[in-house]
Amino acid sequence: MLDTPLRTDREIVRWAAGEAARLLGPLGDRWRHVRGVAQQARRIASILGDAEAPVLLAAAYLHDVGWAPELADTRFHPIDGARWVRSQGHDRLARLVAHHSEARFEAHLQGLGDELGEFEREDSPTGDALTYCDLTTGPTGEPITPVARWDEIERRYGPNSIVVNALARSRQSLLAAVRRTERRIEGAGIQPR
Ligand SMILES: [Fe+2]
Repeated sequence: MLDTPLRTDREIVRWAAGEAARLLGPLGDRWRHVRGVAQQARRIASILGDAEAPVLLAAAYLHDVGWAPELADTRFHPIDGARWVRSQGHDRLARLVAHHSEARFEAHLQGLGDELGEFEREDSPTGDALTYCDLTTGPTGEPITPVARWDEIERRYGPNSIVVNALARSRQSLLAAVRRTERRIEGAGIQPR
């Protein structure tokens, strides 16, 4: 369950969507990507059950919030976003944001392992699902396969970038999270997109 007892899960999802729109709306494609990730989360959330579905949705809206210029501190978006989410009183969501799509690999290459360590990583179907939704949504919100998404990232950042280097190291873990989620989607009888 989410952390703040004063708000219902539905209110927290609405809050997350509103804050993401406020912080990322001016950035154009980042916001389009986030809306696509949230749409994907909505489509598959039932694999997690009633308690976890809103966690996935709220995390989908917030996962890239650290790209907002006003939150820039370390300039590594999972950490900047997670610190802000934690400051808003949502510790569980902050941890999911910090570790989405295996951010730990890039954090180490960036020399930000200690900062990421402020947030405990959870191994869970919800964490897997967040990664799945991120990796199956392209840079402007369109559906995409993880492999096509990686090709696009390699073209965008270049083969010698830290981002691409981190991706090579995290690929097996990312693919495993995608496969586990695909099995859960199939088990729930949800149609492929
Ligand atoms: Fe993303």
